[in-house]
Amino acid sequence: MNTNPWLHYSLLPPAMRVAYTLTLVVLGIGYMFAMLHVFGSHAGRDGNPMLSVDDLIIAYSGSKQDTRMEAAIKGPMAAMLPQEEAAMITAWVRGGATRQQYDAEIDKVMENRCIRCHDGSNPHIPNLVGYAKAMEMVQLDTGMTIFTLIRVSHIHLFGITFIFFIVSIIFSHAHMNPPWVKSVVVAIPFLAIIADIASWYLTKIYAPFAWIVLISGAMMGVCFAIEWVVSIYQMWFYKGALELNVEEDVI
Ligand code: HEC
Repeated sequence: MNTNPWLHYSLLPPAMRVAYTLTLVVLGIGYMFAMLHVFGSHAGRDGNPMLSVDDLIIAYSGSKQDTRMEAAIKGPMAAMLPQEEAAMITAWVRGGATRQQYDAEIDKVMENRCIRCHDGSNPHIPNLVGYAKAMEMVQLDTGMTIFTLIRVSHIHLFGITFIFFIVSIIFSHAHMNPPWVKSVVVAIPFLAIIADIASWYLTKIYAPFAWIVLISGAMMGVCFAIEWVVSIYQMWFYKGALELNVEEDVI
């Protein structure tokens, strides 16, 4: 028996229901744009157009594959230089791509084999003139930097808490049986955002945490959808709640 009084939507002033409804409409549109943004910025990183765990691993922890330099001389640039010179470049990259070794060995190879095309005159061909330019092709992709993650974390923690606080307050007027289901649906998104953001960092250390990023995102989406649909439906279309409330002695 629930002795705490709570107000079903049908007992709220109409203006409040209008405010609740339009808030949900605008937040719902916002949620769709947020999903589009997630797809636009992450899907397809692994070569497959759908959003997958591999996309998230690459986004947060990097591809861990070759540098662009190694990929190029193994792949499309392989015909541009003899095998032993390719091996010199690979050894230089793997050995830490030092300036010293570049000046001693690599500069000559680049000069002889690469610069006639990579002299910076064609914007579609990366400029490889000099150590600094060559180094741009030697960076290992390590995903988003910690600083980027920190910036995005605080925006998400504040923004998503506001969104779910507002939606939870609206949803708290709904009738659900048993009543604790409502509290669970309210609690999950807050726990999920903490798990989600922690997993961005943890994916850098251990890639399978990308699953938690995906699962917690999905759980937030499901809870948002439940809160949205139940609130709108009970606000305008559900007639039985008042009698139910009386029967259950909750008002
Ligand atoms: C005959 C012209 C030519 C020569 C010589 C040449 N390249 Fe290229 N290179 C290209 C073109 C065109 C592209 C851009 C298109 C592409 O990526 O296939 C390119 C792209 C690259 C890229 C970027 C690949 C990426 O990830 O986008 C690297 C790195 C590279 N070349 C390295 C080299 C090196 C090292 C040499 C010398 C051993 C070399 N290239 C010689 C024409 C050349």
